[in-house]
Formats: sequence, structure tokens, C-alpha cells
Amino acid sequence: MAHDVQPNSLEAQWMPFSDNRGFKAEPRLVVEAKGTYLTDHRGGQIMDGSSGLFCSPAGHCHPKIIEAVHAQMQINTYTSPFGMAHPSSFMLADKISKLTPDEINHVFFVNSGSEAIDTALKIVMAYHAARGDDARTRMVSRERAYHGVNIGGVSLSGMVNNRKTFPSVMPNVVMMRHTWTEASIKTRGQPEHGIELANDLERMCQTYGGQTIGACFVEPVAGSTGTLLPPKGYLERLREICDEHGILLVFDEVITGFGRLGTNFASQKFNVVPDIMTMAKALTNGSIPMGAVAVKDGIYETVTDKAAPGAIEFFHGYTYSGHPAACAAGIAMMDIIAEEGLVERSADMAPYFEDACFSLADHPMVKDVRVIGTMAGIEVFAGKAPGARGVQLQKEMFWNGLHVKFTGDNGILAPMFIAEKHHIDEIIEKFRASLDATAA
Ligand SMILES: Cc1ncc(COP(=O)(O)O)c(C=O)c1O
Repeated sequence: MAHDVQPNSLEAQWMPFSDNRGFKAEPRLVVEAKGTYLTDHRGGQIMDGSSGLFCSPAGHCHPKIIEAVHAQMQINTYTSPFGMAHPSSFMLADKISKLTPDEINHVFFVNSGSEAIDTALKIVMAYHAARGDDARTRMVSRERAYHGVNIGGVSLSGMVNNRKTFPSVMPNVVMMRHTWTEASIKTRGQPEHGIELANDLERMCQTYGGQTIGACFVEPVAGSTGTLLPPKGYLERLREICDEHGILLVFDEVITGFGRLGTNFASQKFNVVPDIMTMAKALTNGSIPMGAVAVKDGIYETVTDKAAPGAIEFFHGYTYSGHPAACAAGIAMMDIIAEEGLVERSADMAPYFEDACFSLADHPMVKDVRVIGTMAGIEVFAGKAPGARGVQLQKEMFWNGLHVKFTGDNGILAPMFIAEKHHIDEIIEKFRASLDATAA
């Protein structure tokens, strides 16, 4: 069904992370999203090759989520989460903690990945403060990291365009090197070499004193900058160094959580248990904004036990923490994941997906192919300016019937877990056709 678009009506919205002028001159509106397909305002069918923004592995408009949110909205549309609550938030926390590693059983609700990261930062601070370990004011992050857009998350992010306009971010953040190296170009699986990059953390401990570092934040697989895989042994080494120096290890699982790597979380894929994990996106299948921070029992207990009986233990929370609609969507999604075997489907699809992505490696425009689980970065050679070709390709693909999220010159594929092989084929064929059209 085609929908009329009135160009003047687009002006009032200032769009996020967008070329506002270009978009308003040539709008690309999605008027419907069902299963693995989107419908644009001209009636075109678009395969969703990135599950929105890695949000919707169960497919758009899943009927169980719609029903659950509708039912919840009929009985309770809002409850203050401060000092009171509604039952679904506890039910959802319980379901999430069954998916996280054994030691991680306490869940704090937020409304996005960015809020999850800023909340994790505050939990790190509260934990060390509760232990009287006041010198741990420094945080460690990594080049090419993306941890959202709030001030804490930007401070921890290693993407220049997200930082250069905003000089006043948190002080005392130091960056490890990223894990992409020339040696791993177009190789499959976790890079054999690069474990020594984790020793950047050890060097920081030697330079600043390990006892001054509060936490080390990493995405187990850097997602937004184009699927940068951890070299073999890298995350294990980070864990060791953190343990030696009393540093908390935070895994940002906003993309990798809920099955993207074929396990519930990346933590289980790599067999490394962090102290804190952040999550969002697939938690509600992208249907209602929600994020969460899950922590080890010892962290929760340290912070809560420190406060006097009857006192608020952690002075943090959002008006919409654990919103009833989001909880209903989250509970429904947790049930869908179990009933439809979505994590297993992601794992089963991974080898086919990897082969399909590597079939693009021979294209002259493709600089690198990186795949793990059902996420991939297809990096193209830069055009006139870094990122220009990515912007061009993203548009080209949309009109060619494919949605792919580009960051710079990295196309990031993340098919839905409900995708069949023919969907993967369609994604790859359209990707290749768009490369051909752009190269021509
Ligand atoms: C690893 C990671 N952390 C945090 C965020 C920020 O999440 P949000 O956009 O929901 O604030 C993202 C978003 O892509 C992400 O990939």
C-alpha cells in the first residue's frame, strides 16, 4: 500500500544520526514492517538485512508481542518504579537472569543501550565507593568502541565523529587499541593473532596504577564499527588482568545479547564471565524501548548492604525504568526466544551465513569481510572521503530492496533469526548488485 508523503511535513523533525537535508530531499520512509520485510512509501518491498538496528531477530510485528503489550496496556499503563513496582518487572528480571551466566542474577532496567552504559558506569562507581576503594576513578575503554550517545557512553566510545563535536566529556578515560589488524583481512573466525592487544590494559595498570582503574568496558565483538572480532584468547586475557588488579570487567552486550552469536550472550560464546553486562535492542525485539544492566550477585550485595537499613541504596533510576509496556514486550520476547528456539536458529544459520558473506570477498570493492555468529561487517574501500561510499551504498541498497546499516564504509549485516536460507541469499544478492551498481 503506497502512502502519500507531504515533503513539507518532514521539516519539523530533526532526525538522529542522519543527513537531514539529503533525506528530506529524497525521503526513504518505512510505512510497514512485517517479519523480515519492510514496505517503503512507494510500495517497494525491502529485505531487512540488519534486523532494524540489530533489534528485531524475531521479525517485525511479532503477534505475541503485540498481544502481550495490548493486554498489559489494558490493565496498567504506568507505575512509578521508585519505591514501588508492578509484577511484570520482577518476572522479566527473573527471565533475563536465567539467560545470563550463573553468577549474574540482578537486573536493573533502563530504556536504551546508552542508558545501560551510563548506568553501568554509575554501578562501577557505587560498587567501589561501597568498598571504600575511592582511588578507582579511571575507566578503560577501546578505540573503535561504540557505547551509545549519552555523556558516559560517548566518553567510552572510540569513534571520532561521535566525539569531536563534544569536547566536554568525562575525564579519566583511557583507550586500549582496537582489535582489527591487517593480518586478519578476509580471514574466517577469531583472529589467531592479537591476544597481546589485551596487554594494553596491563600497560595502563603499570602506567597509572591498577588500583586507580574502576572498570574496563568492551563490546565482546565491536558491533557498530563493523563487527571487529576479538582475537583468540583476548577476552580471557582481559579477564585475567582485571582479576589481578581488582578491575571490574563490563561487557556491552547491547548487540551480542539474546542470541546474535548463537549463545544467549557473548559471554557464553567466549566462556568469559564479566562482572557487569549491558543489554537492550533484542530484549524487546525492538518493539518498545528498553535496556538493562545485569550484575554479579556480589556487586548488588556490596552496594545494597552498605546502605543503612531503610535507606535508598543506589541513587539512580529512570521514570520509565521497567515500564509496564516494555516489560510485557520483554517477557513475550523471552518466551518467543524459548518457544521458537531463536538462539539455536541463529547458531544453525551461522555457517551458511558465513559462507554467504565470504562469497562477497572477491568483489573488487570489498576490503574486508568479518563474520561471527549471525553478524558480519562487509567493509568496502573508501571513496572520495571516508564514509561517503557507505552513505551512498546504504541509499542504493534501500532502493534496491535491502536495508543494511552502514557505519562509515562498513556494511553491518545482522539477519533475523527467523530468516531462512533464501532470505540470506536475497540479502547477499542485493548487496552484490548494489556494489556493482555503485562501482559502475
Ligand atoms: C554496543 C552498544 N552499546 C550501546 C548502544 C547504544 O544503544 P541505544 O542506541 O539503544 O542507546 C549501542 C547501539 O547500537 C551498541 O551497539
